[in-house]
Amino acid sequence: MPSTPIRRIAICTGGGDAPGLNAVIRAVVIAAVNRGWECYGIRDGFNGILFPERYVDGGVLRLTRERVHGIGHLGGTMLGTTNKGNPFHFPTRMPDGSVRDLDRSDEILEYFGKKEIDALVSVGGDGSLTIADALHKKGLRVVGVPKTIDNDLDKTMTTFGFDTAVSFATDCLDRLHSTAESHHRLMVVEVMGRYAGWIALHSGIAGNAHAILLPEIPSDLDIVASHILAREAQGHPYSVVVVAEGAAPRNGHTELLAPAEIGHAERLGGMGEHVAKALQERTGKDARVVVLGHLLRGGSPTAFDRLAALRFGAAAVRALDEGLTGVMVALAFPNVNYIPLEEVAGRMKAVPMDSDTLQTARDLGICLGD
Ligand code: F6P
Repeated sequence: MPSTPIRRIAICTGGGDAPGLNAVIRAVVIAAVNRGWECYGIRDGFNGILFPERYVDGGVLRLTRERVHGIGHLGGTMLGTTNKGNPFHFPTRMPDGSVRDLDRSDEILEYFGKKEIDALVSVGGDGSLTIADALHKKGLRVVGVPKTIDNDLDKTMTTFGFDTAVSFATDCLDRLHSTAESHHRLMVVEVMGRYAGWIALHSGIAGNAHAILLPEIPSDLDIVASHILAREAQGHPYSVVVVAEGAAPRNGHTELLAPAEIGHAERLGGMGEHVAKALQERTGKDARVVVLGHLLRGGSPTAFDRLAALRFGAAAVRALDEGLTGVMVALAFPNVNYIPLEEVAGRMKAVPMDSDTLQTARDLGICLGD
């Protein structure tokens, strides 16, 4: 483990943005500056290092206490982000027009060496933390901070961004109930959640949905339709159905907007539309679709996410100060702890089938399509 004292650190944010990123940046900068360290922010994942000519400030900016003043409650990330910037698999257009997968990770290490930056705080989801692990294995001092609205990272009780997304989705569901009821309609609400249905499950229960479709439970749309018709027979001729973008019907498939490319995962979307059409056909009821999509990633972080982000950022700096590297800060209620990055990289946390939250949905009579 490297033991030279830290004088200079850098921070980057990668992958899809999430409310709370600015709070992490603020906490990292203040905790570092309070230790007498300098702090630098890399633009757009690692693009600030790989393409300095694209940025008026050279792609890497000095972060002072003043620079992060008043940003903790703001959505997005002041550093920018990208989910097409894996330095180990960088999509690069060749002179002949083809796109090649290049490993540019050495350039990151060279930059840290040349600028005498001792460590990196990498804030991101599964992709970014896998990159962080690989950089650590190449010799960089790295601490990861778990971020994603999807809450699908393993070994942490929650990621920041999730609570904000669930709160917003719940608010939307509250609003959609009255219009669904007034028009005796089906209202199908598609929420983000590629491979895990945490947002759908939590917002669906909190927002009194009548059916929730998750990637973890292949759904039978005949069962969902019967549930809707049974509600109608009981005098409730409307229903609200929450669908995770990554859900798939039994014997069906997920809906894609675009296939995977070099350095970028497939884009999901369209399952809400598919479910609405299928339920309309099966029930004879008028259906409407609302896709919450990127609205879930915007806005100010809730107090819970803000606090989690500030705690994660401060803990990342403490970890570096204590000589730790190759770890991710995790929430292990009531405290934070540190988990080796290699135990997190490439691992996804799906909703467990024995989760009491799932059981709560069943106890409340919410249809899960199974
Ligand atoms: O942040 C994760 C996530 O919200 C997924 O649920 C979603 O599939 C993905 O981001 C979409 O990201 P983008 O549109 O930025 O590629």
